Amino acid sequence: MKKRHVTQVVKGQRVSDGDGVRLTRIIGLTELPDLDPFLLLDAFQSDNPNDYIGGFPPHPHRGFETVTYLLAGRMRHKDSAGNEGVIEPGGIQWMTAGKGIIHSEMPEQKNGLLHGFQLWVNLPAKDKMTAPAYQEYDSNDIPVEKRSDDISVHVLSGTTTQGTSGPVQNNFVEPLYFDIELKDHSEYIENIPAGHNAFIYTIEGDISIVSDNKEQTIAPNNVVVLSDGETVHIKNRTSYGRILLIAGKPIKEKIARGGPFVMNTEEEIHQAFSDYQRGNFA
Ligand code: CO
Repeated sequence: MKKRHVTQVVKGQRVSDGDGVRLTRIIGLTELPDLDPFLLLDAFQSDNPNDYIGGFPPHPHRGFETVTYLLAGRMRHKDSAGNEGVIEPGGIQWMTAGKGIIHSEMPEQKNGLLHGFQLWVNLPAKDKMTAPAYQEYDSNDIPVEKRSDDISVHVLSGTTTQGTSGPVQNNFVEPLYFDIELKDHSEYIENIPAGHNAFIYTIEGDISIVSDNKEQTIAPNNVVVLSDGETVHIKNRTSYGRILLIAGKPIKEKIARGGPFVMNTEEEIHQAFSDYQRGNFA
């Protein structure tokens, strides 16, 4: 089994989005514009309400999926189709914007810690105008595979080497989305389908990626892009480590971006703005 190695480590940049929300954008800027099929990764972690209280007032999306995963805090989402709910710690919302949706994402708290991630996942050209859809699961719906006393794998999407499957179904890019807790210098090996792009986000602890001829140790709050291969071998260097392991099938199509819209051509971006301005969204 060919082990994946580290090809790039990206720290990201502090940016402000929505109504003044302070976050770190790791995928989606010049250093790592995308990692097909992933278009954007934002991490937010603050116990200062000024960093998040403005939230993300109503805004449109078309042509891709937005995935919100919370570790701490609560976010209320509402959309133009009448869907509404609150994402709680350990919960995930996988929203297929498809042909278009207008939604808001607002903190459901006035103080305390808000910690989580938003990932944008591209859709193939033939599915960009699919009907909008949601998959939403709270922590009780997320299976936790106890690989050993020291290793817990929260399986949000995809299937682990040991056969635990997450509730989020996605045939567009067949994603893996695992949240992995590693205690006491434990080691973890996971299969990742060859040809699928994969990255790790280091949440806590120093983590080493072990490949055939080297080990590379990465500090918290980085995206670690992995080479192609069949497995990833991770060693936790501290008493407690936590990472996200995310992978997906690349779409290999041209990407045209226009703010909240991601299509294949500039014409389709113009069309999206025009449809939105004319009120032709959901
Ligand atoms: Co949004």
